[in-house]
Amino acid sequence: MKKFYIETFGCQMNAHDSEKVIGTLLSNGYEQVETPEAADLVFYNTCSIRDKAEQKVFSRLQEFKRRNKGKTFAVLGCVAQQEGERIFEKAPHVSMVCGSASYNRLAEMLVQVEAGNKRVTGLSLDTEDTFETPLTRRDNPHRAYITIIEGCDKSCAYCVVPFTRGPERSRASDNVLREARELAEMGYTEIQLLGQNVNSYLDPSPAGLTFAQLLSRVAEVPGLRRVRFTTSHPRDFGKDIVDAIDGNPVLCNFVHLPVQSGSSRVLRAMQRLYTRDEYMRRIEWLKSSPRGIALSTDIIVGFPGETEEDFEETLGLLDEVEYDSIFSFKYSPRPNTPALRLTDQVPDEEKGRRLTILQEKQRGIQLRRNAEYIGRVEEVMVEGFQKSTGQWIGRTSQNKTLNFTTPAPASDTLIGGYLPVRVLRAGANSLVGESLN
Ligand code: SAH
Ligand code: SF4
Ligand code: F3S
Repeated sequence: MKKFYIETFGCQMNAHDSEKVIGTLLSNGYEQVETPEAADLVFYNTCSIRDKAEQKVFSRLQEFKRRNKGKTFAVLGCVAQQEGERIFEKAPHVSMVCGSASYNRLAEMLVQVEAGNKRVTGLSLDTEDTFETPLTRRDNPHRAYITIIEGCDKSCAYCVVPFTRGPERSRASDNVLREARELAEMGYTEIQLLGQNVNSYLDPSPAGLTFAQLLSRVAEVPGLRRVRFTTSHPRDFGKDIVDAIDGNPVLCNFVHLPVQSGSSRVLRAMQRLYTRDEYMRRIEWLKSSPRGIALSTDIIVGFPGETEEDFEETLGLLDEVEYDSIFSFKYSPRPNTPALRLTDQVPDEEKGRRLTILQEKQRGIQLRRNAEYIGRVEEVMVEGFQKSTGQWIGRTSQNKTLNFTTPAPASDTLIGGYLPVRVLRAGANSLVGESLN
């Protein structure tokens, strides 16, 4: 039996794509192994969102080659789509290059590879059908991803995703709901709906559900206890989403709403299609919800032309919103993107300085916010056990990590279960507590 090894970088979309790829390979008679050394076929599912991620791909490919002479190598994902056949020039030991819109052709491409074809490609972006497969091999037995929309029709000036994942294609709501019901029947209790921009979901089926309606319908599937979604684009984020969350506790009280910058001037240059005030209106809807919705965001520092004043507006936004967590990045120039033409680049040390200031400020905010949880009881889904500390790892509906001990040593695994936990201590990135039973 042919053995394969797969390594995955990037966002949840990529992680879920790998689950689909693994399912397809297993159903075609391949066996998955834990190291590249043990494999005949090495798959590498790549990310190209920042330059560092892309550089890593080529250094890792060299490393694979050095240690694994004579094997077959395949590059998947966003670098595959972006670099296409150039990958064969840069890394001649690679014999297959395939972007995410072509995974439904994977079985056929593997036949070509097996036949000795040294340059097999799947790079078309205009594939009609989203990757519908019953063969997904999910990594986690309790929490599952469902893709509801592929690609992105926005054109944020810094971003490669529209080039690497193509135009938006929404999946029919009846297919999404069928997958959710099947997962619930298999025992999954948490579902995360995925897309680069879930808010621009446009149901192609006659049901014509809006994203908020789809959310509510998924949350009504019997057996599901938690439903999350990511990522939201502020421009398309409607009040109806907050109303849906208010209407059903299965919809987690957590929203990731990437802002990128607190300066309307920079937002315009980024082509984000909203102003700071418009963004803050969404935050007000979210904050006025009785559910206590936790908020997270993405921020880019040092976009071309970002001045000290612009940066201070971003710091001010952090104070105003008080996010529960943020992901922050130094602006990284990417191929094909409109921002490449902007001349007023911020020097790398200055980007680094701004990033450090931003992260230190946010750390203080998180310490303060998390301290408010001390004494409260939160329901967690148990995700794991940490031997070194003797603590179980839990996650709250608000997406906070809440590590906990039990009053008496647990006789059986708690993983996958739901438990009430009293919060005893709080750090910037996690809470610590003790379960009530
Ligand atoms: N579709 C999502 C996420 C896109 S990628 C959205 O629109 O929010 C995730 C994050 O990576 C982005 O939100 C952005 O903050 C960051 N990012 C994207 N391109 C980048 C670049 N060229 N340099 C630095 N950060 C970038
Ligand atoms: Fe990139 Fe913007 Fe699309 Fe997000 S919305 S994937 S940041 S182009
Ligand atoms: Fe990276 Fe592609 Fe996701 S560039 S962040 S893997 S969409």
